[in-house]
Amino acid sequence: MFDLTVFDAFLKTEKLGRAPVILDEVDSTNDWLGKRLDDPRLAEIIVIAHVQTNGRGRHGRVWNHLPGLGLAFSLAWEVSGQPRPLVTLATGIALAETVMELAPVDAQLKYPNDLLIADKKVAGVLTEVKGLNGRRAAIIGVGINVNVPLHKFPDDVRKIATSIFAEGGVKISREAILAIFLNRLEPMLGLLGDGRSGEAIISSYKKLSGIIGRKIAVTASSGEIIGKVMDMDEDGGLIIDSGDGKLEKIVAGETRFLD
Ligand code: BTN
Repeated sequence: MFDLTVFDAFLKTEKLGRAPVILDEVDSTNDWLGKRLDDPRLAEIIVIAHVQTNGRGRHGRVWNHLPGLGLAFSLAWEVSGQPRPLVTLATGIALAETVMELAPVDAQLKYPNDLLIADKKVAGVLTEVKGLNGRRAAIIGVGINVNVPLHKFPDDVRKIATSIFAEGGVKISREAILAIFLNRLEPMLGLLGDGRSGEAIISSYKKLSGIIGRKIAVTASSGEIIGKVMDMDEDGGLIIDSGDGKLEKIVAGETRFLD
């Protein structure tokens, strides 16, 4: 099980993670938290599930995690106005930096929110903006394949997914990884909360994703867009040159490299 004493020993935040909730079984930690947005300690809650019976990924996919070997958790960050993709990007950066601090691996971000090692997925982020009783928050749900041995993945999943243990060869404390991730995330979210520019976030994201200058395909709701990534704008959107002289902005969708 998740050891709160170990978690607390690593946690250095002011707020994030200060009110941990461990659930033996829940449908989805994102859904559980979405019903509690009026909690006065919202920013401090981190809800961690041993088992999720309806773990959700992006685009309606299922997210499966292996109890005791992976991590599935959610936290909430109050937002006003439009949801900001920067919250998702900041989460990815904190994940990538934490994984590389704890394991001898080279982690890369795949826009907008997948964490890859050796081109295979080790973690994903599902950010959903919800409102309750006048409060609007981004619910940030994260799933990480921490100590999963490769043989535990179903055959079809093993082709596209891996774990930190499988790539780095070291078992990592799930409590440490979560606490260090929150330590790294809090100052980045603080930058956004103050309404300050997301410049530092964009710059770190560009480095960790290596996306600028690459030819990519993006499957968005409007169809597939193929082009060269020219830049990332201040909201965290991708500026793509699709070759017909016009630049397009992408803020969501599934991306894949073509070069
Ligand atoms: C993705 O890669 O598509 C996102 C996966 C997000 C999974 C996490 S696990 C904890 C939280 N609760 C959910 O139902 N989903 C997210």
